[in-house]
Amino acid sequence: YEIYLQGLGGVLPKLPMTFAEWERRAEAALPESVWSYVVGGAGDERTQRANVEVFDRWGLMPRMMVGATERDLSVDLWGMHWPTPVFMAPIGVIAMCAQDGHGDLATARAAARTGVPMIGSTLMEDTLEDVAGELGETPGLFQLYTPTDRDLALSLIHRAEQAGYKGIVVTLDTWIPGWRPRDLATSNFPQLRGHCLTNYTSDPRFRALLAAPPEQDPRAAVLQWVSVFGHSVTWDDLTWLREATSLPLILKGICHPEDARRARDFGVDGLYCSNHGGRQANGGLPALDCLPGVVEAADGLPVLFDSGVRSGADVVKALALGASAVGIGRPYAYGLALGGEDGIVHVLRSILAEADLIMAVDGYPTLADLTPEALRRV
Ligand code: FNR
Repeated sequence: YEIYLQGLGGVLPKLPMTFAEWERRAEAALPESVWSYVVGGAGDERTQRANVEVFDRWGLMPRMMVGATERDLSVDLWGMHWPTPVFMAPIGVIAMCAQDGHGDLATARAAARTGVPMIGSTLMEDTLEDVAGELGETPGLFQLYTPTDRDLALSLIHRAEQAGYKGIVVTLDTWIPGWRPRDLATSNFPQLRGHCLTNYTSDPRFRALLAAPPEQDPRAAVLQWVSVFGHSVTWDDLTWLREATSLPLILKGICHPEDARRARDFGVDGLYCSNHGGRQANGGLPALDCLPGVVEAADGLPVLFDSGVRSGADVVKALALGASAVGIGRPYAYGLALGGEDGIVHVLRSILAEADLIMAVDGYPTLADLTPEALRRV
């Protein structure tokens, strides 16, 4: 009612109320090369589009008279209490969407204001310590792009532990950039321009690897970064990573049930079903179609999900298909582009409010009520 009451008092929402409008306005607000980078996907973007369209193939079956006046959307994960089943997926270059260049701090402040957990990317432009300092009581996890140099990886993990992050999310599908025609056309790969390398360049271990300090030759830092970053994480690395931290270890990019089973047997703490929003490889299945198989193979291990989530309805459907919590990607980047920290808060609250209202109207008062039984194929 908050928005209606404000409207009755003559105050209309400052920002639009739908994803389509967030996207349209963000395109108008951002420089073209930044827009291409954020909106773009791999190849002709079929997988990216399918990630979104697949949600239309599922419909919720409403249940009446179940007493859904009070709802509880909170979730307990890895010993933490998450106030919402929605979290912010890691977006490394998000600073490019912020007018003051501090998009990571804005994201953390929005997390603190909404209780929506944040996964901070290795490729944040603010240091991981500064970002953690803004999170308040809201849980933050640290996403690791695992460098080849294990001492450097360890150094980042230890910094994340010391800064108070509550888990390490290892992204598996992005050790090399995907074939993204929009970026190729603008020859724009922000990392190569030196954006988002703060966590590397501020790291004593990274500096020790460099021939010259990054201030003297930023290109040398970038080239060094490419050389320490561009390798695929293997199960061997995972053995090492498992021992490297006592924090919950979560693998991002798991879509195949066999990988899910292997990872679970291996002793990871959680899986994260995602195809990176269709940015990395075209020609794949929509991520939502991979979710039930991963959930089944996870056999009770928490499964995070993202890719293609655009609304509260999408959140509810992904939860019903077994996600323990659902990640928002581009929508909050657009919120940042439109209104800074307030813009992110607006997007998150809109998505959460819609999810809550759907659970109210359709009679699913808790997350435990949301099972695959709640859905029908359209
Ligand atoms: C990403 N994503 C991402 N993932 C990750 O693990 N580390 C990262 O640094 C980034 N960086 C990043 C930049 C940009 C511009 C985008 C759009 C995405 C992927 C992200 O975490 C998530 O998987 C997708 O964004 C989810 O898909 P949707 O919601 O954008 O469709």
